[in-house]
Amino acid sequence: MENLNNGSAPLLEIENLRKVYPNGYEALSNISFNIRGGEFVCIIGRSGAGKSTLLRCINGLIPITGGKLSVHGEDLGGMSEKEKLLMRRRIGFIFQEFNLVDRLSALRNVLLGRIGYMSDFNALIGYFSQADRELALWCLQRVNMVHRARNRADSLSGGEKQRVAIARALAQKPLLLLADEPVASLDPELAWGVMDDLKTVSREENLPTLVNIHDLEIAKKFADRIIGIAKGRIVFDGVVADLTNEILSELYRSDNPNLKSRY
Ligand SMILES: Nc1ncnc2c1ncn2[C@@H]1O[C@H](COP(=O)(O)OP(=O)(O)O)[C@@H](O)[C@H]1O
Ligand SMILES: [Mg+2]
Repeated sequence: MENLNNGSAPLLEIENLRKVYPNGYEALSNISFNIRGGEFVCIIGRSGAGKSTLLRCINGLIPITGGKLSVHGEDLGGMSEKEKLLMRRRIGFIFQEFNLVDRLSALRNVLLGRIGYMSDFNALIGYFSQADRELALWCLQRVNMVHRARNRADSLSGGEKQRVAIARALAQKPLLLLADEPVASLDPELAWGVMDDLKTVSREENLPTLVNIHDLEIAKKFADRIIGIAKGRIVFDGVVADLTNEILSELYRSDNPNLKSRY
């Protein structure tokens, strides 16, 4: 696969990112970090910390309020909506609820990853080139799902659905993979298997990957690097071995005195 992650420049650069929602709520402040090729980064923090907001900002789905955010050296802040669309097709996004089209086959779902590269006409009539079909099958093979290529998405198990979603993201030939709680809807054994596939794909393609995950044990098992967010700020950025109990209690501390934090 074409590999654009060779350069030494960071694939993703975030500097002093701030996000204030229209209702005035400041969901992110002072967020700064860089991601380089092949890094597998887990973003941890309690519910409401700002993890999903961060991924939506990186994907250009919501506008940032301040700071700088660039992907592959291109500043998202200064982009028109059209330019953002072009950038978004190079960012694979994996959702908690898979977001497959139920009535389409696994293969067709993966082919949807190519839509951003097709003419409006071909997209409208659903015409995919032979090269796209071969790419889609190759992507399914990367997650051991070729044998299910012809099966309808709604006939697949949760773990299989998420593998198809990973293949679809891969079919975009992404520069960057973002996954928002990709295994939160799966049973624990399935969750570990899907995380394993995601990490393998990320490593083999040298694809920088950011995974929002609330499950600390999974994050510790798979992450090369962990970014911990509490109340919209980074409180930790480092390797698992440096994650102390003090940091964990800051990350998972509850403001509600009636709720006992796990840490
Ligand atoms: N569209 C929105 N408008 C206002 N506040 C929002 C919006 N979306 C999320 N928030 C708030 O921003 C904070 C961070 O949310 P989110 O990024 O979803 O956190 P996480 O993914 O870590 O659970 C939460 O307090 C949430 O209620
Ligand atoms: Mg979230």
